Amino acid sequence: MSHTVLVTGANRGIGLECVRQYLAEGSRVIACCRHPEQAQALQALAEAHPSTLELVALDLSQPEQLEGLKAYLGDQSIDLLISNAGVYGPKGLALGQIQADDFAPVMAVNVLAPLLLVQTLMVNLSRGAKVALLSSKMGSITDNGSGGSYLYRASKSALNAIGKSLSVDLADQGVSVALLHPGWVQTEMGGPNALISPQTSVLGIRRVLEQLDLSNSGRFLNYDGSEIPW
Ligand SMILES: NC(=O)c1ccc[n+]([C@@H]2O[C@H](COP(=O)([O-])OP(=O)(O)OC[C@H]3O[C@@H](n4cnc5c(N)ncnc54)[C@H](OP(=O)(O)O)[C@@H]3O)[C@@H](O)[C@H]2O)c1
Repeated sequence: MSHTVLVTGANRGIGLECVRQYLAEGSRVIACCRHPEQAQALQALAEAHPSTLELVALDLSQPEQLEGLKAYLGDQSIDLLISNAGVYGPKGLALGQIQADDFAPVMAVNVLAPLLLVQTLMVNLSRGAKVALLSSKMGSITDNGSGGSYLYRASKSALNAIGKSLSVDLADQGVSVALLHPGWVQTEMGGPNALISPQTSVLGIRRVLEQLDLSNSGRFLNYDGSEIPW
């Protein structure tokens, strides 16, 4: 039986590398992104893996689109759900510059969307399935020594709270959940000065997910497997 992985924000960065690596190990991958018709890297992968890669349109700022994904999937099982899509929000906003309108779009994509995604697809999760929520060390309140980044930090702290509750509520269904910090990664979000490549990050994430089960569900983990304080 094939191992099915669903990834959001799959057209670039860490999401695209997840698609590459899970395809390479033989998984069937459902890659969700806002504009599949413009996603050249994904389309090239789909040509190379016509029977194992499917592209699905999904804009996570539009919750009603989750119903389209649900209809597309029908009763198909998902073994690994990677909620990867995320936004940083307006950059460089210091205290004193934050506008009310800046808050909701970041929360919609980073907090509400992962929750609704899991809620919508929970009936599709196989027994023993795993849910990976891409969080960030910037969501760690203990680790916050530099301040700032109000919207992004708040969104990832809130996502951590959601992931912890999901780990409790999905345990009876045999589903385990991890909140993952991917490292500081060379992507559009991480920028060119970031410390690691998407390849290194996703190799680490895959190793962490291999070890994930109900006994260690609900933890906040770095891509190297070390635990991050809340
Ligand atoms: N890079 C880092 O150093 C780092 C560190 C800690 C945590 N993270 C987390 O890791 C995850 C992936 O980050 P990344 O570095 O790969 O970021 P990225 O290169 O900026 O890619 C972000 C992805 O999210 C998608 N996305 C954004 N808004 C969306 C929406 N409304 N609907 C659907 N997809 C949407 C983007 O799609 P479009 O191309 O359509 O915009 C893109 O595929 C994020 O959750 C991020 O917070 C990254």
